[in-house]
Amino acid sequence: MKKTAAAKTKTQSFYDRIADVHTLALKLNGYRASVAKYLRSLELEIDENSLVLDAGSGSGIVTLGFQDAGFRPKKTITFDLSFNLLKISSEQFRKEKQIDAANVSPVQGNVLELPFADNAFDLVLTCGVLEYVPLDDGLREMSRVLKTGGRLVFIPVKPSFVGSVLELLYKFKIHPVKNVRKISQRYFNIVGNHEFPVTEPIGWSKTIFLLEKKQP
Ligand SMILES: C[S@@+](CC[C@H](N)C(=O)[O-])C[C@H]1O[C@@H](n2cnc3c(N)ncnc32)[C@H](O)[C@@H]1O
Repeated sequence: MKKTAAAKTKTQSFYDRIADVHTLALKLNGYRASVAKYLRSLELEIDENSLVLDAGSGSGIVTLGFQDAGFRPKKTITFDLSFNLLKISSEQFRKEKQIDAANVSPVQGNVLELPFADNAFDLVLTCGVLEYVPLDDGLREMSRVLKTGGRLVFIPVKPSFVGSVLELLYKFKIHPVKNVRKISQRYFNIVGNHEFPVTEPIGWSKTIFLLEKKQP
């Protein structure tokens, strides 16, 4: 596994510590199926030449949902601060026969300093991560590594009762939706804002913005 960050941050230590229980919680709450259903509904231009980044991949739920939706890019990078979560998710990918584990590679580091070239990726997926960093810095960095016209599937935590509970448990800070819209538009065109159905637990705390990187 490639490593890019020297210092172990508080967030990294926190997620390294809770990696097992966090992974189990996500297995039970149906997030993977909800993400897969949403991604399947999009006309994403992903093929065997595409490069995809799951930024702040955690236990790998978004990459799993992406593959469940039928996408098979050339390579998906799962990128996270937590070594333990990267290890657990890589093991999970290998265990599941229908997942193209050979083309998923873990890289450890900070989303504010992505160790990738400008315009490298066709698609970036990010769920529940930018709550840990200044939103402008995070979105600017994700835009930098995306090709012009490439898409960012951005799944932030939204202000809500469940969001506030998670905010306390997971020690992050929810960005107000008005800031999400305003700051997103500095780097992206907003293609859509999807609400998960209320029957899907992910919708109790998260919303989805589909963004397209603006021309420079
Ligand atoms: C709430 S979890 C979400 C994980 C996954 N995307 C999901 O939807 O299940 C937040 C993840 O972001 C990672 N994270 C937090 N701050 C980060 C940073 N600055 N750079 C990279 N990863 C970060 C944590 O290690 C953790 O895995």
